[in-house]
Amino acid sequence: MKDQAVIIGIAGGSASGKTSIAKQLYDYFKGHHKVKILKQDDYYKDQGHLTFEERVKTNYDHPFAFDTDLLVAHLKKLKNKERIEKPTYDYTLHTRSDITEVIEKRDVIILEGIFVLAEATIRELCDILVYIDTDSDIRFIRRLKRDIEERGRSLDSVCQQYLKTVRPMHEQFIEPSKKYAHIIIPEGGSNHVAVDLLITKIKSIVDE
Ligand code: ADP
Ligand code: C5P
Repeated sequence: MKDQAVIIGIAGGSASGKTSIAKQLYDYFKGHHKVKILKQDDYYKDQGHLTFEERVKTNYDHPFAFDTDLLVAHLKKLKNKERIEKPTYDYTLHTRSDITEVIEKRDVIILEGIFVLAEATIRELCDILVYIDTDSDIRFIRRLKRDIEERGRSLDSVCQQYLKTVRPMHEQFIEPSKKYAHIIIPEGGSNHVAVDLLITKIKSIVDE
């Protein structure tokens, strides 16, 4: 077993299927290694000092919305197989929740988030870089359903946010970051061949 943890970075647009792919990798490796999924979203900046009305106005699809310094510091610790105390995020309140999660040392870290490839400091810490490439109409339909069912949003708010920030920021930051990927997976979680290939590659790095 390696002295350092292996970090798999999974990027892609909102609702592209990052979480679904991360779960499939987790389910495969959990039987053999200590593995953990890390969500970049848990590193959105704390906005506890703002009112709810002010928080709603934040552009959550701009790199400034994230505490990337904290995420990079945590990734460095995890890479060295040290424990971290990770923040958690509450989408319904648009800020960090009160819960902190302790993550003990792991062999494999699966990091998923919209800016995992776009941020050089994060990218450089990953051993494999994956981009989930799902068409924007499919992503919008998935996001609409998910944000209403799970993130406490209305039809109007999802549509407005998509046009005002999600779509333009995707085009400015996320789509261009695809060029940094080692592997591009079309259509996310239902691409079982791509997941199998990825598992084979991760196994070769973890076991080398
Ligand atoms: P991301 O982490 O990129 O935002 P998720 O994996 O959470 O994406 O998927 C977003 C939504 O789309 C979820 O509600 C999920 O159940 C759904 N979803 C993901 N992959 C598929 C798929 N292949 N077919 C249908 N729905 C999917
Ligand atoms: O899971 P997914 O990749 O879709 O998560 C990232 C998305 O979460 C971003 O596109 C951002 O618009 C959204 N978000 C939000 N409200 C927040 C924080 C993030 O809509 N408070």
